Amino acid sequence: MHRVFSRSRPTPSYRRSSSFRSRQRKVIFSGIQPTGVPHLGNYLGALVNWVHLQKASQPDDQLIYSVVGLHAITLPQDPAQLRQEKRAAMATLLAIGIDPTRSILFHQDEVSEHAELAWILGCLAPLGRLNRMTTYKAKISTGKTDERLGLFSYPVLQAADILLYKATHVPVGEDQRQHLELTRDLAQAFNQQFRAETFHLPQDIITPSKRIFSLRDSSQKMSKSAADPKSRIGLTDTADEIALKIRKAITDSSHEIVWDPKDRPGVSNLLTILHACTTDPALDTSATAEFRNTSLVDFKSRVAEAVESRVAPIRSEFHRLNSDEGYIQSVSRNGAERARSIASRTLQEVKSRIGLEAI
Ligand code: AMP
Ligand code: TRP
Repeated sequence: MHRVFSRSRPTPSYRRSSSFRSRQRKVIFSGIQPTGVPHLGNYLGALVNWVHLQKASQPDDQLIYSVVGLHAITLPQDPAQLRQEKRAAMATLLAIGIDPTRSILFHQDEVSEHAELAWILGCLAPLGRLNRMTTYKAKISTGKTDERLGLFSYPVLQAADILLYKATHVPVGEDQRQHLELTRDLAQAFNQQFRAETFHLPQDIITPSKRIFSLRDSSQKMSKSAADPKSRIGLTDTADEIALKIRKAITDSSHEIVWDPKDRPGVSNLLTILHACTTDPALDTSATAEFRNTSLVDFKSRVAEAVESRVAPIRSEFHRLNSDEGYIQSVSRNGAERARSIASRTLQEVKSRIGLEAI
């Protein structure tokens, strides 16, 4: 884990002036792309942490969660579908428990400061660093997309998202670690070049690895881009769909229920899912003694029940909210307004540092 502030830098003024307060006020920022209903992997591997952080936060901490539409268009999107998925992403975040009165919840594309800061940071970003981004290389290697500037500079826009709010902590999945390193380096490069203390160096909070694998091929991550929809469980799947997908989940020829991710990845993935969806702390992933006399069929229905009890409240809340256009709109507007008031202050500070203030 990285320190939030580098050792060599003087204590930031807001910490100096509040000597009575020993803990550091956290500013938590994270984002999700509006590209399809999140699946169980997104939820257990990333989103659930957003809700935990909200619950664990202190009153003076700030939480900012964003639906990142500008990132979504780095790959071709159908406009009508994107419009609908922006709203669905907002409804999903509300349905899993993000409270818009506690957290700032907004659409990144509605706060134009993100694009402007991304341009400024892009002028500092070394091409060599961007060339080494594994996320970019992975997307290009599929052969499904052309090499375009927006996709290439995706991590710079992400850095702008984070730095605009002077975030101290960024909850993300393991695959985003490199983007956070770049964010810190850009923050430091800016501070050094302009002899400023404008940006904090944000720390990543890597979600405790709940990597969920495909139900059809347990060597692959559960993914929204996999061709077979039976490989993933969407947060809006019905109880029947969930039961069917888990019943059909590929395991192996042994019917023993044991935790062995290397040699028994299929059944181990189901144990991870069961463990993550159950609130019973006694049920450890590796504690499988209680399944000694359980058939695979019964085990799978137990997993399906656990998933359904976790997903059902999210699903019904999602449907209720997604059809309430007025409410979603008011949350989005209010969130964008609150986000803008912070973002515009940072951008003004940045522009005046580099000599671009309005004259
Ligand atoms: P993506 O939809 O791949 O852009 O992922 C959005 C977030 O969900 C990232 O933080 C990922 O690390 C996380 N994520 C995606 N798929 C999985 C998975 N199968 N298991 C755990 N986390 C995942
Ligand atoms: N790149 C992130 C992902 O694919 C999404 C994202 C965009 C993000 N901007 C962000 C995450 C800022 C954290 C902070 O999951």
